[in-house]
Amino acid sequence: MKPDVKSLTHVAIIMDGNGRWAKSQGKPRLFGHRRGAENIKSIVEESIAQKISYLTIYAFSTENWHRPQEEVSGLMNLLRFYLKNEIKTFKKQGVRLRMVGERSRLDKDIQELIAHAEKETQDNSVLTLQVALNYGSRGEITEALRKMVSSGIEVSQITEEKIGEFLYTAGAPDPDLLIRTGGEQRLSNFLLWQSAYAEFYFTETFWPAFSKQEFQKALSVYDGRERRHGKTSDQVQ
Ligand code: IPE
Ligand code: IPE
Ligand code: MG
Repeated sequence: MKPDVKSLTHVAIIMDGNGRWAKSQGKPRLFGHRRGAENIKSIVEESIAQKISYLTIYAFSTENWHRPQEEVSGLMNLLRFYLKNEIKTFKKQGVRLRMVGERSRLDKDIQELIAHAEKETQDNSVLTLQVALNYGSRGEITEALRKMVSSGIEVSQITEEKIGEFLYTAGAPDPDLLIRTGGEQRLSNFLLWQSAYAEFYFTETFWPAFSKQEFQKALSVYDGRERRHGKTSDQVQ
């Protein structure tokens, strides 16, 4: 017999489609990024309501530096704004913020704002919000290997669990469900290692228009999936 509700601990989202959404409204791309950033709030609220423990959102990839300078600095300014203004709400909601990605390439003041926000929210335990920023999965794995080798680890100590401990996401469970908005069906260098057994949900809806209702729909589609992890259907029922 199938359990009524499948366990859902961790949802990851590739928040794509801000630019195209803005275009559809006859507005500049940055307008789409602003609405996209606002939309994160409602998905965080709904994640809490759904008792999800981890939400990981792809905010800026290592490849996104190749965008026009004006767009990159607009995105960084948005980040500054939310890092300063959301801490109060996170405290009220019990949200623990954690940045996953390579920090050193970010402006110094942003690095400081991140460290401050993480520290201020570190004891919150309702939801861990992992923001993937200057994140790329291959870079993450490469960096993990570098750290492992320089820590002098023995060959016999290299296990899958050990590798997980050296990733930016160390300590977080693997995502159960990975959502991508905006119509593309690719991972764009996001959580390659961690998504080995994630269920995927793709929607045409652009991120700024991805509502709580659509999010609920994705969760109910997930609920109907059969996760076999390599076993037969009979074994998992
Ligand atoms: C996602 O939306 C946000 C970031 C990558 C920062 P896009 O900016 O990629 O929007 P589209 O895909 O061009 O519509
Ligand atoms: C992925 O979106 C990165 C983020 C959502 C932050 P992109 O728009 O950068 O991905 P591609 O270029 O379409 O693969
Ligand atoms: Mg895009």
